[in-house]
Amino acid sequence: MSLRLVGIAGSFNRPSKTFALVGHIAGLAAETYGFSKTVYDLKDLGPSLGTALWRSELDEQASQVIDDIVKADILVIGSPTYKGSYPGLFKHLIDLIDPAELRAKPIIISATGGGDRHALIVEHQLRPLFGFFMAHTLPTAVYASDRDFVDYKVTSEALSTRIGSVVDELGSFSFVPSARASLQAAE
Ligand SMILES: Cc1cc2nc3c(=O)[nH]c(=O)nc-3n(C[C@H](O)[C@H](O)[C@H](O)COP(=O)(O)O)c2cc1C
Repeated sequence: MSLRLVGIAGSFNRPSKTFALVGHIAGLAAETYGFSKTVYDLKDLGPSLGTALWRSELDEQASQVIDDIVKADILVIGSPTYKGSYPGLFKHLIDLIDPAELRAKPIIISATGGGDRHALIVEHQLRPLFGFFMAHTLPTAVYASDRDFVDYKVTSEALSTRIGSVVDELGSFSFVPSARASLQAAE
């Protein structure tokens, strides 16, 4: 059975650059290593997310998405930048996860913003957040600004190179099949 990658875009905007970025990273990783993949945004969790203080208070739809997140072998997290940080609703989703559930999980961290001013959100906010969970955030973090997209598609060469680097880094986990072996299996 193939390893399962789940992407989460911490945006409730549709269309969304964050969703496009997470989808792009997830797509390349799935293609390279033969993972199965699903990508969610905050709207996929539905209205109970905003009112639940505990996981038991979520409706079935939201519970299902969180179950999928915590059972994933690999996560790709993306957040839009709101006032220099991640949106409150995205943090609320993460608050409903028990620290033990993300322990040692490989997580690719990414973010989008209007410009470059808050590019360090990935290092100063997302990396420490998942450090609290004792997850394995991948060394390369990906930040994209408005100019990296055309029609909600990743078009920048520099951004694509950075995405390629973090996808390569996934290969250093022993449970991830080597890219060459995955490609041969797919032939
Ligand atoms: C409420 C709000 C606050 C924002 N604050 C910032 C900010 O502080 N820095 C920044 O670079 N972009 C900021 N932006 C721009 C968004 O981060 C940017 O457009 C992002 O790519 C939106 O992602 P989405 O298309 O997934 O919604 C803000 C946008 C909104 C709606």
